Amino acid sequence: MPNPYLEGNFAPVSIERTDDHELPTDGVVPPDLDGRLLRNGPNPVVVPADPDDYDWWGGDGMVHGITLRGSKALGYANRWVRTRRLAEVLGTEPPPGPAEPVDGPANHHVVRHGGVTLALGGTGLPLALSGNLERARLHDFDAMVATPVAGHPKLDPVTGELVVFGVDVFGPPFLRTHVVDPGGAVTATVEVDLPRAVLVPDLGVTATRVVIFDLPVVFDLGLAAAGRSSPYRWMPEAGARIGIATRRGNDGVRWIGVDPSAVSHVVNAFDDGDRVVCDVVRYDSALDLPSGGPMSSRPPVLVRWTVDPTANRVVEEQLDDLPVELPRIDPAVVGRPHRFAYCQELSPLPQWWQPRGLVRYDLVRGEATRFDPGPYRAASEPVFVRGADGHAEDEGWVLTVVYDAARGASDLVILDATSFAGPPVATVHLPARVPFGFHGSWLPAGE
Ligand SMILES: [Fe+2]
Repeated sequence: MPNPYLEGNFAPVSIERTDDHELPTDGVVPPDLDGRLLRNGPNPVVVPADPDDYDWWGGDGMVHGITLRGSKALGYANRWVRTRRLAEVLGTEPPPGPAEPVDGPANHHVVRHGGVTLALGGTGLPLALSGNLERARLHDFDAMVATPVAGHPKLDPVTGELVVFGVDVFGPPFLRTHVVDPGGAVTATVEVDLPRAVLVPDLGVTATRVVIFDLPVVFDLGLAAAGRSSPYRWMPEAGARIGIATRRGNDGVRWIGVDPSAVSHVVNAFDDGDRVVCDVVRYDSALDLPSGGPMSSRPPVLVRWTVDPTANRVVEEQLDDLPVELPRIDPAVVGRPHRFAYCQELSPLPQWWQPRGLVRYDLVRGEATRFDPGPYRAASEPVFVRGADGHAEDEGWVLTVVYDAARGASDLVILDATSFAGPPVATVHLPARVPFGFHGSWLPAGE
């Protein structure tokens, strides 16, 4: 059976290119968008002979960059993220840096912090990328981090601190969180003792605390030794719990039991007195299917978990019944109460995991506004950028790369977040197809 993650716009591209010229655009790029959109995602250099051996989540990373300036799109470039393994395959210089931890594909996110652009995966150290994306070096935060770093760091918009975390499957404590100051120095590391290595794709970070998900997607050494593309399996009998800790871990972790489920992404988390409110993309189960397919038999939904450590309980409220993924918010409200969330809308059953349009949620009014990219077109993650004159949380732009199956091509689509249903304010026709990936960041010029 074909692997769906090698078909259509999940299929990798085989060429690295640089286009330093104005890109054809319908509409006008907002003049306050002065910088570069970087996006990361899986793009294997060599596709396994047996499609069942390909795990989309583990594919080699490729970063795509689109430059916007002066109301125009001025260029596009894409480069593989040259991990040690990939540099060997490509015959390029290996990235300098420590030999441990094990190499990882660095395919999940790309962020800028402390003057460094980091590509992050989850099974290895981040890689610091050069401005032209061509060179990489392993980034161990001045030797303060020696274990893998996951692909969902959280940037505190008030303090400028970056909270990063990662799972080390090879031994306890299994999970570590780190606080990185605005200059890039690690100022705290918290070891979170878990009974076993589990998949922790994301965690919540409020202004004061972190929310940890110890959910039963369990690392299985037997699967890893057998060379299975994904070494995790669904094991609900292992139990499930949510932990609350201070960012610096000085009071330990307060654990609260919950029903087994899986969380792929945290929309945001914030303090509500002693309680923590955490909006997440939740699956009923995960990795309960044969390898080479979607990560779950059932689509995810958006839920709000209100965690009450005093009452020792978690209350769930389902926020919508649409299948959604890749949620984003205004970076200015990370860790604080958020009103708006932007998500990729997925398809109806049975191929629920196929990208479709976008949804904007107004969580105060309980409203959902959909953006339909048009027939045979499908949107990637929506990245919100606050406008230069934007005062309210939704006064800004939403950037998404849309695949047009009829043309076999990709466009950068820019939406006004306050007129989310469209039409777009600008559609930039990219010179190359951009495969569906995971996450990206807007990097303002000069930062
Ligand atoms: Fe992610």
